Amino acid sequence: MRRPTTVYLYELAWILPSVAIPVGMLVALMVTSFGAGIHLPGDHGRVEPAKVAETAPFDKPGLLELGPGRYEVRLTGQIWSFTPNEIRVPAGATVTFVATSRDVVHGFFIPGANVNVMLLPGQVSRVTARFDRPGEYPYFCHEYCGIAHHIMWGKVIVEPRS
Ligand code: CUA
Repeated sequence: MRRPTTVYLYELAWILPSVAIPVGMLVALMVTSFGAGIHLPGDHGRVEPAKVAETAPFDKPGLLELGPGRYEVRLTGQIWSFTPNEIRVPAGATVTFVATSRDVVHGFFIPGANVNVMLLPGQVSRVTARFDRPGEYPYFCHEYCGIAHHIMWGKVIVEPRS
């Protein structure tokens, strides 16, 4: 018995996308993780959530120069602010943010740089970004954390090199 050709066409119309879609997703994953350097932040240590403010390095939040052009920022998020909320670095600086939350879940997002992490109470997140162009790079909390979530922000000021 002969089956009509349209049956094969219907089968093909389902088979091809079901192969093409996962392959497309895999390619997108490879491009973003290896090409664009986008990846999940790892767990870089833990601190007692209730004692973040007394625990090193978060007892002295702020900017630290590690070497020429290399900086570390120890940053905490708490309702509803970041400490520090203003960071000044010269253009070309490579900045590693070591960050955590002192209370609830917050986010730390710099739209102008490759920085987008969740700040979980007591879990230390670490993310590095390079700031080549002078200007202001605002950062925001992008995890809803309560009534004044929308005012939780700060900025990285990248100064031109003299
Ligand atoms: Cu902190 Cu939203």
